[in-house]
Amino acid sequence: MKGVILAGGTGSRLYPLTKVTNKHLLPVYDKPMIYYPMATLINAGIKDIMIVSGRGHAGHFLELLGSGVDHGVHLTYEIQEKAGGIAQALYLAKDFVDGDCITVILGDNIFQDNIRDDIRNFNTGAKIFIKEVTDAYRFGVAELKGKKVIGIEEKPKKPRSNFAVTGLYIYDSHVFDVIKNLKPSGRGELEITDVNNYYIQNGNMEYGMLKGYWSDAGTFESLLRAGELVQQQNKSISTETFENPLIAGELVQQPSKNGFIN
Ligand code: G1P
Repeated sequence: MKGVILAGGTGSRLYPLTKVTNKHLLPVYDKPMIYYPMATLINAGIKDIMIVSGRGHAGHFLELLGSGVDHGVHLTYEIQEKAGGIAQALYLAKDFVDGDCITVILGDNIFQDNIRDDIRNFNTGAKIFIKEVTDAYRFGVAELKGKKVIGIEEKPKKPRSNFAVTGLYIYDSHVFDVIKNLKPSGRGELEITDVNNYYIQNGNMEYGMLKGYWSDAGTFESLLRAGELVQQQNKSISTETFENPLIAGELVQQPSKNGFIN
């Protein structure tokens, strides 16, 4: 299983914070934002990770993270020349993934759950991770029927449920064929939601319901909330009963010998 962190985009919703740097390098409590998605992948046992970023600040990721050796992983870098959507950015990882399965995470998504078992047990075409929220209109929204997800709508004005599709996805190697055949959406982008709906229509999609906290960090409100969640988590860590606590920063800074965080 390979990992891809998507860290492109202009971060325009966070302007002027993103005027001279990349959104994913901004602080979330006491760590650069990208540490958290990286920790999610490392905690899940993934050691071969590609970071896709835009042209502007790509060098800063390299300065911050280097080869990945400090964190017990191997990092590869790719440049998305122009903003063309999440699915277009993912397509750039095709050669890196080289026929393997792939876990994809958006660089501004902060997760508490550990998905190690989801990866270990993955045997369908794709898996998404869902979280119940009060502001579903901001996200891809899943319609569920029993144990199945029957469709996803991207940022609907009137959401059919409160189940947000988070920015964490597992795909088989066919995902690149799916992206290749996608048509750009109304806003001219290749949408990850269209990729996911393709798998749903083919009966090849499963979903997991997240137990721990989740936040994006692409707006002022969510950036603040993400920092607060991490701060709370750090404070309560000694009494935390959550099954797989994500101590992102510490984990990334002090990986165990095998590079995993348990
Ligand atoms: C993207 C996806 C959306 C998903 C969200 C999670 O939206 O398009 O389906 O729910 O990430 O953070 P964006 O943050 O690019 O607006």
